[in-house]
Amino acid sequence: METMKEQINKIFKERFGKNGTLYASAGRINLIGEHTDYNDGFVFPGAIDKVIMAELAENGTDKVRVFSIDIDEYAEFGLREEDAPTQGWARYIFGICREIQKRGGTVKGFDAVFAGNVPLGAGLSSSAALESCFAFALNDMFNNNAIDKFELARIGQSTEHNYCGVNCGIMDQFASVFGRKDHLMRLDCRSMEYEYFPFDPKGYKLVLVDSRVKHELKDSPYNRRRESCERVAKELGVKSLRDADMAMLDAAKDRISEEDYKRARYVIGEKQRVLDVCDALNAGDYKKVGEKMYETHEGLSKDYEVSCEELDFLNDVAKEMGVTGSRIMGGGFGGCTINLVSDDLHDRFITEAVVRFKEKYGHEPQIYDVIISDGARKVEE
Ligand code: GLA
Repeated sequence: METMKEQINKIFKERFGKNGTLYASAGRINLIGEHTDYNDGFVFPGAIDKVIMAELAENGTDKVRVFSIDIDEYAEFGLREEDAPTQGWARYIFGICREIQKRGGTVKGFDAVFAGNVPLGAGLSSSAALESCFAFALNDMFNNNAIDKFELARIGQSTEHNYCGVNCGIMDQFASVFGRKDHLMRLDCRSMEYEYFPFDPKGYKLVLVDSRVKHELKDSPYNRRRESCERVAKELGVKSLRDADMAMLDAAKDRISEEDYKRARYVIGEKQRVLDVCDALNAGDYKKVGEKMYETHEGLSKDYEVSCEELDFLNDVAKEMGVTGSRIMGGGFGGCTINLVSDDLHDRFITEAVVRFKEKYGHEPQIYDVIISDGARKVEE
């Protein structure tokens, strides 16, 4: 079978009559630390072996011409603010171009063809993979790599904010740009200090179970969750929930809505859980890691209310079977669970999760073993 790379090469050549340069970036998982990034807390992601790959070449015009193999659509747009394309997928690329320009960087007209195998709407950040692939490529092609990696991540994040309607934090773009094979990264989203953690859980595997319930963060309650957190922080007189603890929250209980109270309670708990998981990992205590994952699921489901029936069901199946840890992953409202499964349970868990889910919801979930891989990069020919 033709590889993704060969397919992109072939179609690029057919459409544009020349060859370009290949770049790729990755989707991500997050072991723990969900909805903490925009609260200045900690996250613990890693890039995965699911990528968006693009071939690009300068075209000597002031236009971008780009073809998406998977969507089978072509878009052409200029580089001024009023040139924004209408297709949703093309707005990500347009946003990256504009955000580079706004920061004083250079973007000239180029041709591009791209494809990917990051499942869409599964909570694996296909959009961050697309953004960081193009941000990395345009930095390399037109800016001598003068834009640093944090700025590349911010360019992706600003694209979500300004062109795609999602008021997201920095985690996905950070993971996608900084990802390193066999390493997770703990990022402090306030100081932006980060640390690579070698991740090789002996005797365990990370398994994603994708419910294939689609989520769309734009116009979704995602932005409203963020507003709840900001409201509570304001009420507590702190910059963000990073600076709050349970005593402060309880003292303000009468002044905030019950819903906002629950949202903040989850975030305050999750801040600590990331640190606990890092300690547990350092000590090789996977049982503790797993317990924290279940606690996160509980919080995301009951307090933060970003789970759904299908994901709660998958979490229950994992728990019943004695899976070490399991939780909903990513922004929520669909997508997948991430599971820490001991090797001896791995095959049985997958079989049973698939059978029981299908019995109840009529379709099979998609299973992925996670392989922690590199993030944004130039693809060697
Ligand atoms: C989405 C956002 C991230 C983060 C997660 C939840 O993936 O893009 O910034 O907030 O949800 O942890």
